[in-house]
Amino acid sequence: MTMISPAGELSALDLGNLELWKDGPPHEIFDLLRRDDPLHWSALADFEHEAGFWSVVRFEDIAAVGRDHETFSSERSIILVDKLSWDPAVPDPMDIAANMMITQDPPRHDRMKALVQRAFTPKRAVEHTERMREIINLVFDRALEAHPDGRIDLVNDVGVHVPAMVIGDMLGAPREDAARLVDWTNRTTAFEDPRLVPDLGEVWRALEEFIPYVNAMVTDREQHPTDDLTTAFIQAEVDGEHLSHEEVLMFFFLLMVAGNDSTRAVFTSGMKNLLEDPEQFELVRSGAVPLEQVVEEFVRYNPAFAYMRRTATRDTELAGKQVRKGDKLALWYVAGNRDESVFDDPHRFDVRRDPNPHQGFGGGGRHFCLGAGLARLELKLWLEETMRRFPDIALDGDGDRLASTFLNQYRSIPVALHG
Ligand code: HEM
Repeated sequence: MTMISPAGELSALDLGNLELWKDGPPHEIFDLLRRDDPLHWSALADFEHEAGFWSVVRFEDIAAVGRDHETFSSERSIILVDKLSWDPAVPDPMDIAANMMITQDPPRHDRMKALVQRAFTPKRAVEHTERMREIINLVFDRALEAHPDGRIDLVNDVGVHVPAMVIGDMLGAPREDAARLVDWTNRTTAFEDPRLVPDLGEVWRALEEFIPYVNAMVTDREQHPTDDLTTAFIQAEVDGEHLSHEEVLMFFFLLMVAGNDSTRAVFTSGMKNLLEDPEQFELVRSGAVPLEQVVEEFVRYNPAFAYMRRTATRDTELAGKQVRKGDKLALWYVAGNRDESVFDDPHRFDVRRDPNPHQGFGGGGRHFCLGAGLARLELKLWLEETMRRFPDIALDGDGDRLASTFLNQYRSIPVALHG
């Protein structure tokens, strides 16, 4: 973990500096900030054209900002940068991302969410149970086919495929396209990791392949409706209003990104925590703790998105400091989930934790995760099948983290499925 001296250095600390994130979220720093500087300014020096940002690190402040969408807007961007391209000659992917529901404020946000929410209730998620179970087993079978000795990479051989197939299936994309969909979403979200995105133009190149693919699918469903989610989005109606072609396209994109990165990040990191702690692993394997509860601790301990950003729409005060109109604020869910005023012994990974009112799906405002019900069920089934088929699963080497301040995930975790 990164060590810093509590006094003095805190004021110069730039939480946007990837060096601090090499071994995962800098929890020691967040502990200090919650105690000594609960609204901390960072320069975001790694992005020369971008303004700095405030870090919101206390559970209550994150919840308050998340709920107050009038003062703290989601428009334009939910990551720390406003633009990925400052060269007028190079198209900026952020101009496209700015059309997603997650980067809208009410009333447009609420109208879009109302149109799709019905497809994502926990009750509707249950309808996908058998299909999800089948996908999980198919992916494990394929991993074993490729590695008959059971020594696999939990992220690349299993993690990336399950959520992509689940959400891809729901949207109506053919299963054989799942790998391509994963590749496109990785290249758009992992923009801070030069191993995945060697230069920022890569994000645009990924979109140049992704957008025509989705466009063709949406056009096809407009002409030939099926029972998939893409068709449901086209047909959805609230007060006589429909989503436009572009809005359906952006939904497809948002769901691929939000549903993919997130669920695989939580499953793979949570499994790593379990396999590092024999006592916790036994609690899960023996069925001593309900899997629903295990899933909540997975999401609390390793929220898939380290933060979501808001932008102040007016001058205001927060945590005793003055925030100016236009200022960026990062709601650090990784810090809220370790707030000692809410969670006992917050740095302890404990599947017995109950209640567990974490902020891994958001702080509770209008943008609360649309896919939470689906993700909870998917993670539960994934754990269930893993424990049933591979009760001796064990770590088989060190993990390698993705370089990102936004995506809290591993790039690779070697495991031996048969122990
Ligand atoms: C464990 C897995 C997941 C985690 C940890 C997660 C986390 C989050 C978080 C933190 C937010 C933002 C909340 C805010 O800013 O207040 C969010 C929003 C969202 N998530 Fe998830 N998510 C997960 C799975 C999924 C899945 C499976 C889907 C889709 C099928 C999905 C779709 C969305 C959408 C569409 C939004 C935007 C909601 C809005 O703007 O109103 N998520 N998610």
